[in-house]
Amino acid sequence: MHNDWTHVPVDYSDVLRRAMDSLFKTFENFSEGTFIVDKEARVVWINKRYAARFGFSDPQEAIGRDCEAVIPNSLMREVVTTGKPILLDLLETDREPLVVTRLPLKDDFGQTVGAIGFALFDEMKALTPLFSHYSRVQQELIATRQSLAQARRAKYTFASFVGTSAASLDVKRQARRAAQVDSPVLLSGETGTGKELLAHAIHGASTRAARPLVSVNVAAIPDTLLEVEFFGAAAGAYTGADRKGRVGKFELADGGTLFLDEIGDMPLVLQGKLLRVLQEKEFEPLGSNRIVRTDVRIIAATSADLPALVASGRFRADLFYRLNVLSIHAPPLRERAGDIEALVYAMLEELSADARPRHAGQFVLHDDALRLLAAYSWPGNVRELRNVLERAVMLSDSEHIDARALGAFMGTASAVASREPAGVAEETGESHIMSYAEAMGGFEKRFLAEALRASGGRVAEAAQRIGIGRATMYKKIVALGIEV
Ligand SMILES: Nc1ncnc2c1ncn2[C@@H]1O[C@H](COP(=O)(O)OP(=O)(O)OP(=O)(O)O)[C@@H](O)[C@H]1O
Ligand SMILES: [Mg+2]
Repeated sequence: MHNDWTHVPVDYSDVLRRAMDSLFKTFENFSEGTFIVDKEARVVWINKRYAARFGFSDPQEAIGRDCEAVIPNSLMREVVTTGKPILLDLLETDREPLVVTRLPLKDDFGQTVGAIGFALFDEMKALTPLFSHYSRVQQELIATRQSLAQARRAKYTFASFVGTSAASLDVKRQARRAAQVDSPVLLSGETGTGKELLAHAIHGASTRAARPLVSVNVAAIPDTLLEVEFFGAAAGAYTGADRKGRVGKFELADGGTLFLDEIGDMPLVLQGKLLRVLQEKEFEPLGSNRIVRTDVRIIAATSADLPALVASGRFRADLFYRLNVLSIHAPPLRERAGDIEALVYAMLEELSADARPRHAGQFVLHDDALRLLAAYSWPGNVRELRNVLERAVMLSDSEHIDARALGAFMGTASAVASREPAGVAEETGESHIMSYAEAMGGFEKRFLAEALRASGGRVAEAAQRIGIGRATMYKKIVALGIEV
């Protein structure tokens, strides 16, 4: 019977056979490559051109090999395993990518017995606009990933933690031990005592060092945005400024370490969600139906008294115990005055190399200057010491710094922040008339300290009550040396 499809009844199996024949021929003619694998994803047939493209001058040489050994990045194994087609995909090759289509081959019982793949467009002339867009996006992605990887590498090592006092050696010993294991770490200590430095060092010495270290400063992000910051959101999931969707820090840190700074400021609701994610090791980004599995090591830090927050019901006890598996306390600088000299010289070297390259390493502190530093209470700890030295390096006329010169650089900081009301000027017997800036600094310090006291030491609450941002509040606490 010659087919004349205008006549009924049609022989459907004939139609089907013809359709399949011509489909295959058309694909074969137009495609740059065709190949077939068996149900173990081994090549059973490949056309000459496709084989040649992947370096097999004789197609026979490719027969019997695993598909990936012939065509790197091939997904034919997935097709034979799932029995589902991949209708349109881009296959990366060492030359330009190919547009490919992959179909399962089934037997009469519907069992997958193999798969057939076509590489539809070589050079992709027909798809130039689409492809140039794709390759631009791909390039951007590679560049962004590289710069992010750079930024996410640990900034500090244990060697960056300067100090040979017993307290410092103990902290370093505990931190080194923490780097050997994978359990959560809770770093506590006043502001500026090196908690962030330790978090970097622990990550950098851990088995996760080659993976990202991602930091979230809980205090610096408004409560309403924290959840998205942590877990991400699907496109259009929320009507914030960012409608494109967002990858959360948990996902970014996958395989690496998530550093949760100022954990004490985390709202209770989010504490509950965080606990659940830590227990279940999976979460769903906001507005998505996607389950994301996480493999993240948590290092949390707090300058607040977390047990006190637990006692007053502002921090969940269960989350506290979960985070507090290894706890490391960074002692305040005033309790390890023996470290000050080593810190001073390490920092002077670094600071002067930046600010005055020709004078690098030439700064010398007189003994009376060192004594002045040792006697001071350092409410802002090592950060404050660094700030004083930075000022000295920038403003000092000479590389030889004595107590008198240094006192000037400690300036407002010592006048308003010293634990004893007597400032340097009074010690030296000079009558002291406050400058406007000093007076305002003093007022600001008392005002903020009072707000903190009224809020039970909780920074976020105090900031909210007096109408300033949390991040600003933290900066002021450090700058003015307020004890939290
Ligand atoms: N032991 C140390 N040796 C050298 N530098 C240090 C040391 N401790 C802290 N620093 C420096 O002091 C500054 C503050 O340290 P870091 O940011 O780690 O403190 P922090 O405890 O996280 O403070 P905060 O609670 O305010 O966030 C940084 O510049 C850091 O490099
Ligand atoms: Mg910090």
